[in-house]
Amino acid sequence: MTSMNSAKSYIEHHQERFLDELIELLKIPSISADSKYKDDVIKTADVIKTSLEKAGCDIVEICETPGYPIVYGEKIIDPNLPTILVYGHYDVQPPDPLDLWDSPPFEPVIKKTDLHPNGAIFARGSCDDKGQMYMHVKALEYMTSTNQLPCNVKFMIEGEEEVGSESLGWFVERNQDKLANDVILISDTGMIANDIPSITTGLRGLSYVEVEVTGPNRDLHSGLYGGAVANPINVLAKMIASLHDENNHITIPGFYDEVEELTSEERAKMAEAPFSKDAYTQALDIEDVYGEAGYTTNERNSIRPTLDVNGIWGGYIGEGAKTVIASKAFAKISMRLVPNQDWERITELFQKHFTNIAPKGVTVEVKPHHGGQAYVTPIDSIGYQAASKAYEKTFGKVPIPQRSGGSIPIVALFEKELKSKTILMGFGLDSDAIHSPNEHFGIWNYLKGIETIPQFYHYFTEMSK
Ligand code: BES
Ligand code: MN
Ligand code: MN
Repeated sequence: MTSMNSAKSYIEHHQERFLDELIELLKIPSISADSKYKDDVIKTADVIKTSLEKAGCDIVEICETPGYPIVYGEKIIDPNLPTILVYGHYDVQPPDPLDLWDSPPFEPVIKKTDLHPNGAIFARGSCDDKGQMYMHVKALEYMTSTNQLPCNVKFMIEGEEEVGSESLGWFVERNQDKLANDVILISDTGMIANDIPSITTGLRGLSYVEVEVTGPNRDLHSGLYGGAVANPINVLAKMIASLHDENNHITIPGFYDEVEELTSEERAKMAEAPFSKDAYTQALDIEDVYGEAGYTTNERNSIRPTLDVNGIWGGYIGEGAKTVIASKAFAKISMRLVPNQDWERITELFQKHFTNIAPKGVTVEVKPHHGGQAYVTPIDSIGYQAASKAYEKTFGKVPIPQRSGGSIPIVALFEKELKSKTILMGFGLDSDAIHSPNEHFGIWNYLKGIETIPQFYHYFTEMSK
């Protein structure tokens, strides 16, 4: 297996089919958030089931849940050998706003970009997570068809990741034996650059809430009543603005109480990761970065907790002008959390504070959505070391451990219920526009992932002996 040429030549030989199969998968709009697409989400699970059968799994099942099904597959070659559990998701984010896509989100096209000179597949889900999940299916195909699978493997591919993984939690709690494993392997994150491989060692937690501010019992003429009653939109804007102070610290009492502070050694180590502020601001067309005083950009978006409004609405937004004081205003707010912060406690703190700061004249309702704990994986584990060796082999460089700002809330639950560590081998780039219009995934990245995954299997099995 360490003879890497074998994987390289297999991939070269089959790459066109690997791409075609992914393109077919990307054509199905498996949008879990929108019930209009229910049939498409379910159909995607079936397509994945078939692909796992073809790739060599001995058992593949569609496991029904209270929500969308989970595709489970396994190939157990010897119970004495280690077992890798691969997790991924087949659901995707809604593609809106549609008019900002250069090509339709579910009609994949291949185009070259500056960072992907060999071309990238443009489609919703190409990077998050169909493309990255499918690398694992193709890596399995390579290992089984060339008789090089060194250990046991289980697959668990869900269809509700983008809406909080509720059914997966339900499934994991009920299937601990079935899912027993030595390590969990996920490709649903990113890396620094194609020539700077990195392995994700942390994910932030999340608390997601929706707030509703109610003023007068009906919409009012803004001339007759303006200035005399609280305007829910004005009030909401002011309340939101007050959630950060002049140093961009979050003002919710108790919010930072449990926050894990890194040592200066750990922060110095982090600062070694290459980062260009100019490239960062230029890529986003912004004049400068912004954030919590006392922290670098890389720290602000990984080891520090944050609070962001994801959407805000109310009042008149149609054509022209309408003079009105709306009865209600709304916002969706997310808080990204770091190790030791408990998402349920943070949700309560938010709820209490946001209700407290509401002025007389309005009432406030805070509805919790979903959440999850942060996760950090150790770098001295066999899993991390095996992953590091795998990248070294296929990228020719030792990968940099890096904590990410994103969240995969189910990972902390895996550790709790299945007692195993997760290794996050992500091959996307931050610029791949996940959750955005024109999401794409580099063809080079896709094939590099397929090449690197079998190396992880190899080293993990070797090092577990
Ligand atoms: N794959 C992402 C998470 C991610 C992306 C982590 C890049 C690290 C780097 C995942 O599909 C996602 O979007 N998660 C959501 C949370 C979920 C509960 C909706 C997120 O991070 O917003
Ligand atoms: Mn994802
Ligand atoms: Mn996502």
